[in-house]
Amino acid sequence: MAVIYKLAITQFRNLNHQYIEPHKHLNLFIANNAHGKTNFIEAIYYLGHNRSFKTKSLKELIEFEQQKFQLDAQVDDYRIKLEKTKQKTSISINQNRLKNSSELSKVLPIQIITPDKGFIVNGTPKNKRSYLDWGVFHVKPDFLSDFKKYNKALKNINILLSQHKDQELDYWFLQIAQLSAAINQSRQDYLEQLKQTNSPELINDLSVLFKSVESFNYEFKSGWPKEVDAYSVDSIYQYLLKSKGFLFKSKYLNYGPHKANLKFYLNDQEECFLSRGEQKTLSIVFWLTQVSMLVDNNIQPIVLIDDISSELDATKIQTILCFLKRLKIQIFMTDIGSNLLKIDVDNSRIFKIDHGVITQQ
Ligand SMILES: Nc1ncnc2c1ncn2[C@@H]1O[C@H](COP(=O)(O)OP(=O)(O)OP(=O)(O)O)[C@@H](O)[C@H]1O
Ligand SMILES: [Mg+2]
Repeated sequence: MAVIYKLAITQFRNLNHQYIEPHKHLNLFIANNAHGKTNFIEAIYYLGHNRSFKTKSLKELIEFEQQKFQLDAQVDDYRIKLEKTKQKTSISINQNRLKNSSELSKVLPIQIITPDKGFIVNGTPKNKRSYLDWGVFHVKPDFLSDFKKYNKALKNINILLSQHKDQELDYWFLQIAQLSAAINQSRQDYLEQLKQTNSPELINDLSVLFKSVESFNYEFKSGWPKEVDAYSVDSIYQYLLKSKGFLFKSKYLNYGPHKANLKFYLNDQEECFLSRGEQKTLSIVFWLTQVSMLVDNNIQPIVLIDDISSELDATKIQTILCFLKRLKIQIFMTDIGSNLLKIDVDNSRIFKIDHGVITQQ
């Protein structure tokens, strides 16, 4: 079970030198606007992903006038250290330098829900793929290496298409067809498992959240045109060979898993027609199902929830907290300090953030 026992944040945005010892279940961070709630959530997210959900610019993340930031955490038996200067990044787990950040996600699997990252329902296809692939990656370890190989094949194909070179193209078409079928299958299997996680108990638990959770549905779009069987290597390969002329004209491959999408429906109504509150609630339902399924697969992610009270009423918040409490995972949650939250004080720790200074209450 992933639990952060100790966390030190140094010069990350407005969090100058902060050290906390979180509770292994619920941690609530209360602050007024612009005191550092999202910054704190972003710091933990950064440690698990080696990237931010808000920016690609390191300059924004390092505290004003400083040259570097550091994040240092005790997660289970692992000591994770991440340091970024404008010149270099160094990441270590138990003093062993890491070459790639996927190791970080294994030690520190993090699921996040925040308006800053955008919700999955009615989100951009890119954001949908990122939420989906996060889950697939944890359940199916080969997925990441397939995806890296896929990106390499895609890059080569696009170079060949833009230079109008036919040599080697068939070889890369076959590679991408094989990798694409594997990625589609992993994503589809994962979504099937996720739908089965929608057990009657889960639906019952969440029915307070949304009366018609049962009629909440999602459909996977593989990124290939309808006439292609996205799970068949041969079907993808033949399509690519047949479309060569057209692809040379467009100069890049605009189909495949990098264009996949998820379509959400409520009572057969498409996601774009739903209200923002409905979109948020259904995003939470999807995300709670993902967390629940990972727990079933013995992966206990750490959950980050920024701004819990915004757009959710007290009953919905209570439903989410009860649901997560039963999963026995670690939660970091921020709030503006409304009275909507009823916190079980025996199983939680409350912190205040005041102009970037975190103190335990
Ligand atoms: N690189 C940085 N160095 C120092 N301070 C920063 C840096 N980046 C952002 N800040 C400060 O952090 C504060 C915003 O923090 P944050 O977004 O965490 O607030 P918040 O508590 O989530 O507010 P809200 O309730 O409005 O969402 C701003 O006052 C901003 O000036
Ligand atoms: Mg915020």
